[in-house]
Amino acid sequence: MIKIKNLSKVFGQGESQIIALHQIDCEIEEGKFVALIGKSGSGKSTLLNIIGALEKPSEGDVEIDGVNLFSMTSNELADYRNKKLGYVFQSFYLEPEFSVLENVAMPLLIAGVNKKTREDKAKEYIEKLGLNTKTNEKVKNLSGGQKQRVAIARALVNDPSIILADEPTGNLDTANGQDVIKILREIADNKKTVIMVTHNMQDAKIADETIELQDGKIVNRNINV
Ligand SMILES: Nc1ncnc2c1ncn2[C@@H]1O[C@H](COP(=O)(O)OP(=O)(O)O)[C@@H](O)[C@H]1O
Ligand SMILES: [Mg+2]
Repeated sequence: MIKIKNLSKVFGQGESQIIALHQIDCEIEEGKFVALIGKSGSGKSTLLNIIGALEKPSEGDVEIDGVNLFSMTSNELADYRNKKLGYVFQSFYLEPEFSVLENVAMPLLIAGVNKKTREDKAKEYIEKLGLNTKTNEKVKNLSGGQKQRVAIARALVNDPSIILADEPTGNLDTANGQDVIKILREIADNKKTVIMVTHNMQDAKIADETIELQDGKIVNRNINV
């Protein structure tokens, strides 16, 4: 269970101050697929980044399975991020000169897992994402759809309980975008929580719930049927 508690985020100061999030409260159940929707600038990425502990809130906290993220020390938080959270971004954030295997194994390297286990685990997820033939290929030689699947394999390799995706289909054509959405649906069906930012209403429909942000506040929450 994710509990978002009185969360606010303010950027800048004085005249140039921007309230990106304004006193948000919300709970997200384990194993749900939630789509965060809303206009550009409504605060979607800021909320996702704070849930993912990539940014600090100005006020409030995020509690995940009873743990308050922003009460942890930065070392504890880094460890938590690595083990419990998986990230997928619009622009992939992969290491282009590294192989698929090296990219997918990266979180395991950071977690201090030995080489054999790293490679076995990474290969397991590379296979799950249908990239076997690309295992030793440099990421820069892959198509957009393949890159996003590498990013998803990397997000899953540590068996995190929560996957956070910010516009994961934003740089993909329709067919590859659909593939990625289906993969995220399967991840949620396998009991992981998936939170996806999107402005594509078609993509949002596959989620269990949509949460709509407007000017840094939740204005709508719907269970999808
Ligand atoms: N690092 C930042 N510095 C200053 N303002 C920011 C920063 N990040 C986001 N903002 C502002 O906060 C608001 C919400 O942004 P964001 O969360 O990126 O919205 P969305 O993802 O819904 O498009 C916007 O007005 C944006 O300009
Ligand atoms: Mg955004």
